[in-house]
Amino acid sequence: MTQKITTGWFISLFTIVGACLGLIWTVFIGDGEPLIASLGFSGIAFSASYCLIVWLGDSFKRVGLKGKDISKADRRELPETMGAVCAVVYLMCMIVFLPFAFYEYFVILTSGGGNRDATIEGVETGRLLHRFPHNKLGEYLSAILSLQSMVILGVADDLFDIRWRHKLFLPVIAAIPMLMVYYVDFGVTNIVVPTSLQEYIGTALLDLSWGYYLYMAAIAIFCPNSINILAGINGIEVSQSIIIGSFIAINDLLYISVEGHPATDSHLFSLYFLLPFLGVSLALWWHNWYPSKVFVGDTYCYFAGMTFAVVGILGHFSKTLLLLFVPQIFNFIYSAPQLFRLVPCPRHRLPKFNARSGLMEPSRAPFEKPPKWYIALILGILEKLRLIRVWRNKEGVIMECSNLTLINLWIVTFGPMREDKATMGLMGLQIACSIIGLLIRHKAALLVFPHDNLSI
Ligand code: UD1
Ligand code: MG
Repeated sequence: MTQKITTGWFISLFTIVGACLGLIWTVFIGDGEPLIASLGFSGIAFSASYCLIVWLGDSFKRVGLKGKDISKADRRELPETMGAVCAVVYLMCMIVFLPFAFYEYFVILTSGGGNRDATIEGVETGRLLHRFPHNKLGEYLSAILSLQSMVILGVADDLFDIRWRHKLFLPVIAAIPMLMVYYVDFGVTNIVVPTSLQEYIGTALLDLSWGYYLYMAAIAIFCPNSINILAGINGIEVSQSIIIGSFIAINDLLYISVEGHPATDSHLFSLYFLLPFLGVSLALWWHNWYPSKVFVGDTYCYFAGMTFAVVGILGHFSKTLLLLFVPQIFNFIYSAPQLFRLVPCPRHRLPKFNARSGLMEPSRAPFEKPPKWYIALILGILEKLRLIRVWRNKEGVIMECSNLTLINLWIVTFGPMREDKATMGLMGLQIACSIIGLLIRHKAALLVFPHDNLSI
C-alpha cells in the first residue's frame, strides 16, 4: 500500500521548516548560539526524514529492501532499512551545521570581531590561528566519519544479512577514527577509584592504559548490537533510542546549566550530535510505531548505537551512558546462552503471534537433542526464578524453552498481550531505569566517589 503525506501534515511540516529556517537565520546574522541553530537543523531533519520515508518506501521495496511483518495475520511486506534514509539526512545535517558549530572562532579570527584589520593580520601571519580549537574540529570530523562508516556497514548487513559472529565486530572498525582522535587529543585513560578502595589501591586515579581503549571499543561494540537484539516488535528499536537519546540530552543540559562548568564544551558537543538524531528518529518513529508502515533495519540500530557510543566516548561520559543502557545490558547478558550457542538460537527470537487471539506469546527455542546436564540445571534454576518458561516431554527432559530475550521475559511474566502493549510496557521500564540511572549518577555516586562532577 503506497503511503501519502496528508495536506494537514504537509502544512505542519512546511511551518516547522519555515520556523527552523528563521531560527538558523537569526543565529547566522546575530552571532547567536550554535545550539539554537542545531535545534533549527533538527526540525528540518525531522521534516525531511518524515517526507523521504514516505516517498522512498516503494523504491526501497522495488530493490529488495523489504521485510515481512511477522506478527500480523496477513504478514504484509514493508519497506526495510529506513534507518538509512534517516542516517543520510542526519549526516547531511551534521555537515551543514559544521560552520555553525565553529562560527564563534571565525568571528574572532576574521571579520565581525570588532577589530577587523588587526585580526585579519593575525590570521595571515598565523599568530591567532592557535586559538582555533583544531582538537574539537578533529573530534567532530572523526565522529562523522565513525558514524558514516557504521551506516555503510549497517546497509551492507541489511543487504547481505551478515552472520552474527561477524557483524558483532563491525562497530570496532567504524570506531577506529574516533578512538584515534581520543588518543591524540584527550588521551585520558585514568578512572577515579571509589573512596573506600583508595586506601587499598593507594591512589585516587587508576591508569588503565590500553585497557581503557579496549573498554571504549567494547562500548562501541555493545551499543549498536544491544539495540539490534532488543528488537522485533513494532516501534521498539526507535522508541528505546529516543528514550536513551533524550536522557543523555537531559544529562547534557544539567551540565550546561551550571555556569562556567569545565565540561560544558563536551556536553555541547553531545547535544549537537543528539538533537538532529532525535529529529530524524522521531520522524522514523511516526512511521514505525504499531502498526508499522516501515521497518528501521539493522542500519538504524547500528546508527543509533554508534551515535550514543560517539557522544559517550568523545563527551567523556561513557560510564553514565551505561547507566542508561540497563535494559539492554540485562537483555545482552540474558541472551548470552543463545548468542554463544549454549542454547539453540533460531533466526528470529521475537515473540510468537497468535492469529486467533491477536496476542503475542513467548516464542520457543527447540532443542534438537536433550540439553547437557549443566545447561538443563541452569534452565531449571531460571525456571524456578520465573525467568524462563520450559517445555518438557513425558520423561521430564527439556524439549523447548522460551527464547532468552527481555521481550519474551516480559510476556512470560505478564502473560500474552498485544504487540503495542508489550512495546509500551518495555519502554515504561526503559524510562524508569533511565530516571534511576541519572539519580544514581548524580546522587548515589556521592556515596562512593569524593564528589559529583556536576558541581565545580
Ligand atoms: C535480531 C534478533 C532476532 C530478531 C530480529 C528482529 C538476536 C540474536 N537477533 O536479528 O532474534 O528476531 O532482530 O528484528 O537477538 N520484524 C518484524 N516486526 C518488527 C521488526 C522486525 O516482524 O517490528 C522482522 C521483519 O521480518 C524484518 C526482520 O524482523 O524484516 C528484521 O530482522 P533483522 O534485523 O534482519 O534481524 P537481526 O538483526 O539479524
Ligand atoms: Mg536487526
